[in-house]
Amino acid sequence: MGDRYALIGNPVAHSKSPAIHAAFARDTGQDIHYGLIEAPLDAFAAAVERFRAAGGKGLNVTLPFKHEAFRLCARLSDRARAAQAVNTLRFADSYGDNTDGVGLVRDLADNLGVPLQGRSVLLLGAGGAAQGVLGALLEAGVARLAIANRTPAKAQALAARHPGVSGGGYTELAGQAFDVVVNATSAGLANDSPPLPPGVLHRKAVAYDMVYGRDTPFLAQAREAGARACDGLGMLVEQAAESFFVWRGVRPATRALLERLRGA
Ligand code: ATR
Repeated sequence: MGDRYALIGNPVAHSKSPAIHAAFARDTGQDIHYGLIEAPLDAFAAAVERFRAAGGKGLNVTLPFKHEAFRLCARLSDRARAAQAVNTLRFADSYGDNTDGVGLVRDLADNLGVPLQGRSVLLLGAGGAAQGVLGALLEAGVARLAIANRTPAKAQALAARHPGVSGGGYTELAGQAFDVVVNATSAGLANDSPPLPPGVLHRKAVAYDMVYGRDTPFLAQAREAGARACDGLGMLVEQAAESFFVWRGVRPATRALLERLRGA
């Protein structure tokens, strides 16, 4: 068996990551095996150490452990430091990276044909998922970035750390329109949607939900408003490709795989 990697989280059972990394390995001729580890909520570090001691080379980290992973690393990429969260661990040099933001921006630009340069973007949510992609959205050259959250103070606090970014609650969005609206809340997992005032989603808008594998109320609302509705499957594939690159130094192609996953 080749070098071992895994996704660690809780829960992880329904993850598509093993299939994605198996396809990358096949396509690039890299000899790796990628598994799943469901860590107990109170024993993340021990589970990481067990995998490393058994010869594992690196991990992807998902909910709810990205902050804890950040604290485990001796070295961090700039984007992991900005996000204060790590989704990619490389054991050889105790390195932590965060590929979520670049995954989102690449999916929008390369797969969906929505480059963010000069666009107005609304980011919904102010938790770990929003924080993880904020830096990449800014780096993509957006003209305007607003953050809205159910708890407005959290959006204000996140915005305050980034010059030019505004933050607040949903009601303050009344009368405003954006080119791209990214849902980084976990509302969809509870079959709920952030309460957007009418007009925020419109015919020319792109609505992107970072959740994948389900049609969220946010996406349904976007379609009803005539907006283009996109789920987070492409982001999943793109962040995986970037993690694969961090580990193996080889960048896998993503387009054909994404089409296959969408067809499946
Ligand atoms: P994650 O790492 O997925 O971002 P989190 O840090 O718990 O998880 O943050 C969840 C985000 O989804 C928060 O922005 C949360 O809003 P609050 O800060 O007000 O709690 C948002 N969220 C969760 N359920 C929501 C709902 N039903 N409607 C609107 N926002 C919701």
